[in-house]
Amino acid sequence: MKMVIAYVRHEAFEPIRTELLTLGFPSLSISEVKGSGRQKGITERYRGAELTNYLRPKVKIECVVATKDVMTIVDTILKHGRTGAVGDGKVFVLPVEEAYRIRTGESGEETLQAHPDAASAAAAG
Ligand SMILES: Nc1ncnc2c1ncn2[C@@H]1O[C@H](COP(=O)(O)OP(=O)(O)OP(=O)(O)O)[C@@H](O)[C@H]1O
Ligand SMILES: [Mg+2]
Repeated sequence: MKMVIAYVRHEAFEPIRTELLTLGFPSLSISEVKGSGRQKGITERYRGAELTNYLRPKVKIECVVATKDVMTIVDTILKHGRTGAVGDGKVFVLPVEEAYRIRTGESGEETLQAHPDAASAAAAG
């Protein structure tokens, strides 16, 4: 199992989420974070003064998947996250030791599989 952690632009999240759902990966967590990349922020002028924002808002996505599915997740994030401009974000892949579904006590990769009709249920709202 692996955890994919991605820092993406806010606009990129909805297309990423939608495609992951379609591909059978409805389970993920997000948080709104602030961070800096190698540009260390952006400098803007406001009423004549130069202001540097060192931290930019990003959406952090966490998605734990079976190892065989990692590149499906990464490719989806790259596809929808890339504008070509600086600040598109980063993707990290980390090892995951174990997973447990609390409701049933199941463990391992089977806890990561989508419910058979998860995609259609979610699409129906
Ligand atoms: N090494 C890192 N560790 C943790 N978070 C990071 C790291 N690199 C980037 N991030 C997160 O990703 C966000 C976007 O990074 P960003 O896309 O600017 O990376 P970059 O390396 O500067 O690439 P680019 O040159 O395309 O801008 C950052 O604001 C931060 O939240
Ligand atoms: Mg950057």
